[in-house]
Amino acid sequence: MKQKTLGIGLVGTSFMGRAHSNAWMSAPRFFDLPLHVAMRAVAGTNAGDVAGFAQRWGWQCCTDDWRDLVTDPQVGLIDNCTPNHVHAEVSIEALEAGKNVACEKPLAGTLEDARSMRDAARKAARRGVRTFVWFNYRRCPAVAFAHQLVKEGKLGRIFHVRASYLQDWGGPSTPLLWRFQSKLAGSGAHGDLNAHVIDMARFITGEEVTEVVGAVEETFVKERDLVEGSGGAISGKGAKRAASRGRRKGRSTVDDAVLFLARMSGGAVASFEATRLATGNQNRNQIELNGELGSVRFDFERMNELQWWDHTLPARMRGWSRIMCTDPGHPYAGSYWPAAHVLGYEHGFVSQAADTVLALAGRKPVVAIPDFADAYETQRVLEAAVRCARTRRPVALSEIR
Ligand SMILES: NC(=O)c1ccc[n+]([C@@H]2O[C@H](COP(=O)([O-])OP(=O)(O)OC[C@H]3O[C@@H](n4cnc5c(N)ncnc54)[C@H](O)[C@@H]3O)[C@@H](O)[C@H]2O)c1
Repeated sequence: MKQKTLGIGLVGTSFMGRAHSNAWMSAPRFFDLPLHVAMRAVAGTNAGDVAGFAQRWGWQCCTDDWRDLVTDPQVGLIDNCTPNHVHAEVSIEALEAGKNVACEKPLAGTLEDARSMRDAARKAARRGVRTFVWFNYRRCPAVAFAHQLVKEGKLGRIFHVRASYLQDWGGPSTPLLWRFQSKLAGSGAHGDLNAHVIDMARFITGEEVTEVVGAVEETFVKERDLVEGSGGAISGKGAKRAASRGRRKGRSTVDDAVLFLARMSGGAVASFEATRLATGNQNRNQIELNGELGSVRFDFERMNELQWWDHTLPARMRGWSRIMCTDPGHPYAGSYWPAAHVLGYEHGFVSQAADTVLALAGRKPVVAIPDFADAYETQRVLEAAVRCARTRRPVALSEIR
């Protein structure tokens, strides 16, 4: 029987554009999907570059105007891989045109943008239109397995959530990319990295953050070299500096690091830390949960492993064990390679593309995908932490609408 086709329209051709192109290309090869995935069209900002990108990654056609995708009847899902300040405009217009939307995280740079996206999604949902947000770390088999263990009651009551996302590419030599401009990014390490660990904490525990009790926000590098355009690679390598054009430096208007303490709805206390200046930690996305019956520990730099402590064992037998989450019994692992033939960064995106297709076909994804309403809850936590840091007083989540 001929399958129905899902046409994808991708917006953005850089870091995430590549990760998502690979995901849409690979998902039907690793997963048996109920819809045929057509990589219909890609939109970028530079016509010359986008043509080469389309050819390289297998997109059928390309454009330098994302609105062409929104009006294309063969596009069923708009995949939004643009910088944060573009998320709302592209997503809302796509939803109003009846397109499903998968948007990169954070949902938006600001709470206001995120709220209007949530409201547009709510309205579109009445017509059967779906939204998804690319919180890809949920789909690491070890993270999804930690969620299963909590759900099965293996940790018992959770006392502690300890989450941090540490990077070190944001030193003084990194230029003023869009990621350091609040009107484009909203925030710095906070929205970029804390968004991920907040989502992971909410996902693994099934609990919500109810209060941010204390927070600190710091911008260590106040000025950075200006660059032509908004980007370059994530660390600015290869970005063209604007030194020869007169003004050489611009002010960084985002945080380099945000740390905060919080309470969770199930009674756990939690700590979160995001920084781009944790020298020696390149992409250390970590979360640890300590429960009455056991603990789990995850570190993305060893993403195939989940550390497990069984507190029900006699004291003399207790110790951390390393579970390789590559067994067919672990979430997603059976769709890829034989046990211990490890997965990498790209597989989280491939798995999310597959789950998105399942969801659009009315099937259950392996792991729930946050929609705009869910990602808005993460955005509220981001906002509460910033308000707490700036006012130096606790902020209840009920204060953030
Ligand atoms: N899920 C993750 O782990 C992860 C990792 C990195 C980035 N991100 C998120 O993905 C998004 C994009 O980040 P990136 O690293 O790919 O950024 P990037 O700067 O590498 O790429 C942004 C792309 O958007 C395009 N673009 C900008 N404005 C546009 C417009 N008006 N119309 C069409 N295209 C436009 C640019 O040409 C570029 O191709 C951000 O929201 C970021 O937070 C998520």
